[in-house]
Amino acid sequence: MAPAQTASDPTGTEDKAVIPFALPQSGPFEPADIKIENDQAITEWFRSAHARSADEAFRHWDEDGEIDARCASCHSGEGFRDFHGLDGTEAGVVEGQIHTGGVVDCGTCHNAGLADIREVTFPSGLVHPVQGVEASCLTCHQGRTAGRDVTQAIAGLPMDEPDAALRFINPHYATAAATWLGGYGGAGYHYEGRDYAGRFFHARPVASCNSCHDPHSLEVAFEPCQTCHLADSPEAIRIARQSHDGSGDTTVGIRSDIRGNADTLMKLIEAYTDEVAGVPVIYDGSRYPYFFADANRDGAVDMADGNPVAYASWTPRSLRAAFNWKLVTADPGNYAHNPVYSLELLYDAIEDLGEPLGVDVDDLDLLR
Ligand code: HEC
Ligand code: HEC
Ligand code: HEC
Ligand code: HEC
Ligand code: HEC
Repeated sequence: MAPAQTASDPTGTEDKAVIPFALPQSGPFEPADIKIENDQAITEWFRSAHARSADEAFRHWDEDGEIDARCASCHSGEGFRDFHGLDGTEAGVVEGQIHTGGVVDCGTCHNAGLADIREVTFPSGLVHPVQGVEASCLTCHQGRTAGRDVTQAIAGLPMDEPDAALRFINPHYATAAATWLGGYGGAGYHYEGRDYAGRFFHARPVASCNSCHDPHSLEVAFEPCQTCHLADSPEAIRIARQSHDGSGDTTVGIRSDIRGNADTLMKLIEAYTDEVAGVPVIYDGSRYPYFFADANRDGAVDMADGNPVAYASWTPRSLRAAFNWKLVTADPGNYAHNPVYSLELLYDAIEDLGEPLGVDVDDLDLLR
């Protein structure tokens, strides 16, 4: 279909291979204004997480009446446009009042101004060059913290002494773009003296988010994968010839190795907090900040005034391990986004925690 004309692109031909200017520059989009050919896109988008207006990711600020400027760039199309200056305001900050109730609307990705965004800054400080609609995915799916935040928090502190000032550092959610860029993106905590795999280049033509994800339904169609991979599902894809998780099983997808090592790491975090730090931790993925104290060792989260007690006995060693564990597991597509980097982050954390626990990684048969 022909791209719509816009002020900056009167003929509608500029960059049309990269960004489909299917819509006017910004919303709101009334059904009557949307062309019939868009039906398919609308139907698929409407069923996707980007349109799920009742989700916590879009309702979190309802009581405040507006979305916090620090959060708005990713939690509303309006905030995204403000952040990138697509609404005519300064780029790099959200300065306007962003209304609640917005979702990742059509105008987030169908905006002529996206073509002018040349780079996206990551929480690690990395400034990464982008082209077209990639700017959108990489802005919102980059997470909010990076390994360097952990490095700063633990700088100069004794490795195995609990410090009540240390708090869990959450990488945030759906951090696919951070995983994807690997060591080059600097999302994880990088252990000293270790090298990390860079961006997962995969194989041409698998070059960007939308090579695998339909931009509207967000689903991954498996058929195109089968051109190169012999497997029954994305989860079952494996190239690696060796086992990374000590199981020796190379008939399963690489996802299985990542999960196995994530489980091993969690067990070591539990053992370390118990035996070395002195206060066992309990992980509860359904409640922020996810890591809670079990000081009385009754196997249940401690409560104070009816509230769960957040874990406050972090040592530098457990904090960096927990950060890497959360970063890897917060990305359900880690095995497709960057299996190598995910495995490296887990392995190094396992090895590091093993030291004071007297657990030798060699005995676990793990492969980095
Ligand atoms: C860099 C982009 C970005 C920024 C900035 C950001 N978020 Fe998010 N946030 C996301 C994404 C992406 C998700 C979607 C995760 C999912 O549910 O798949 C999310 C999910 C959430 C959720 C839902 C979690 C859940 O369990 O469903 C909450 C709550 C949230 N963010 C709060 C915040 C708050 C508060 C701020 C500001 C202080 C903030 N976010 C800033 C990208 C961001
Ligand atoms: C998260 C980003 C994103 C959002 C949100 C989005 N689109 Fe798209 N849309 C794209 C991308 C990327 C393409 C290009 C797909 C391609 O090249 O195969 C596209 C293509 C299209 C096309 C061309 C036909 C097609 O399906 O390839 C239409 C029409 C369209 N979008 C309409 C819409 C409408 C209407 C909405 C809102 C209901 C919307 N889009 C929301 C990213 C998005
Ligand atoms: C304005 C921020 C924003 C942009 C731009 C954006 N996303 Fe999202 N994305 C989100 C949020 C927020 C969620 C979680 C929504 C929820 O929990 O309901 C999400 C969810 C997803 C999901 C998870 C679907 C699921 O079933 O949980 C995928 C996959 C995804 N986005 C891919 C993409 C891709 C690919 C692009 C670029 C074409 C993109 N996103 C652009 C904010 C964004
Ligand atoms: C090689 C193909 C591939 C590429 C490239 C890719 N993804 Fe994924 N992605 C997957 C698979 C496979 C999954 C896991 C299956 C699923 O959740 O649909 C996934 C999962 C996700 C999820 C979590 C969905 C959920 O269920 O919560 C998000 C968010 C996401 N991808 C975003 C992105 C973004 C953003 C990019 C670009 C930086 C990207 N993906 C690049 C294949 C890919
Ligand atoms: C053009 C060929 C091609 C296509 C299409 C393709 N892949 Fe790949 N894939 C590769 C190659 C080559 C590697 C190995 C890359 C490397 O290790 O650097 C790989 C590696 C992987 C791995 C890691 C396996 C391991 O053991 O480390 C996963 C997971 C994966 N691909 C998932 C997917 C998914 C999901 C799709 C479809 C959405 C897909 N691939 C489409 C060629 C392809």
